Amino acid sequence: FVSANIYLHQYFYSKRTMSLEQAKQVAAYRAVDEFVQNNSIFGVGSGSTVVYAVQRLAERVETENLKVICIPTSFQAKQLINKHNLVLGELDTNPEIDVTIDGADEVDSNLTLIKGGGGCLLQEKIVASCSKKLIVIADYTKDSKKLGDRYKKGIPIEVIPMAYVPIKNKIISLFGGEIKLRSAVAKAGPVVTDNGNFILDWMFADQDLDWEKVNNAIKMIPGVVETGLFVKMCCKAYFGQPEGTVKET
Ligand code: 5RP
Repeated sequence: FVSANIYLHQYFYSKRTMSLEQAKQVAAYRAVDEFVQNNSIFGVGSGSTVVYAVQRLAERVETENLKVICIPTSFQAKQLINKHNLVLGELDTNPEIDVTIDGADEVDSNLTLIKGGGGCLLQEKIVASCSKKLIVIADYTKDSKKLGDRYKKGIPIEVIPMAYVPIKNKIISLFGGEIKLRSAVAKAGPVVTDNGNFILDWMFADQDLDWEKVNNAIKMIPGVVETGLFVKMCCKAYFGQPEGTVKET
C-alpha cells in the first residue's frame, strides 16, 4: 500500500512538472515566433521560461538565417546567448531594443508584474525600459487577478547592502507587511545580485495598493536601487496552459 502511494505521488508529481515545463515552452515559442524579426535587437530576459525562448530563437536563427543581436538581462542570460552561439550585444552600442521577452513571477489583470524571483530585476528593468515592447512568457500559475493572489514570496527590492535595515523599516512604516533579507539557504549569508547588492522580499499585506505610487515611493528611499514591480511596462503576456494551449493577455 505504501509503495503504491509513493508510486502515485511520483506519477502525479512528474505529470505536474512536465505540464509546467510544457506550459513554459509553448508560451516561449509562441512569443519568439510572433515577435522576433530579422535584423532586430532582442532583449533576453532571465529565468527558466526564457531558456525555451532562447532555444527557439537559436532554431530560427539557424533555419531562417535571421540576424538578431541579443542584449542580456543577467549573467544567466549572457551564458544562454553564448551557449547557443547567438550574437551578444550591449546597451552601449544598442541602446534601442526592438523587443524583450522575459518571464515573471506574477502578472495581474492590468499586466503589472512582480519580477526578481531570480534576483535579476535591476538589469531586467533597465533592458525593459530600453525596449519598444516587453512581452512576458509564463506558465499558467503566474496568471493572477491581483498581485499576491498566487505568488506568496512578495515583491523583491534590490538595495545597497549598508542600507538594508533602514530601508526595511521605512517600507514597513509606509505600507505595512513583512520583509525578509533574501538568503540562498536559511542561516546562510545574503544573496548578492549580479550588481553586488542585496535583495529584500516584501510580503505586502494589502493587495489593493496603487502599485505605481508604491513603486515611486519605494524608489525614493535612499539606498533602494530598484523594485521588482513593473508597472505599465509590459504590453502582452503569454501564459502556457497545462494542456499545451496558450492564453494571451
Ligand atoms: C528573474 C525573473 C524571472 O523572470 C522570474 O523569476 C520568472 O522566472 P521563471 O521563468 O523561472 O519562472 O524575474 O529575476
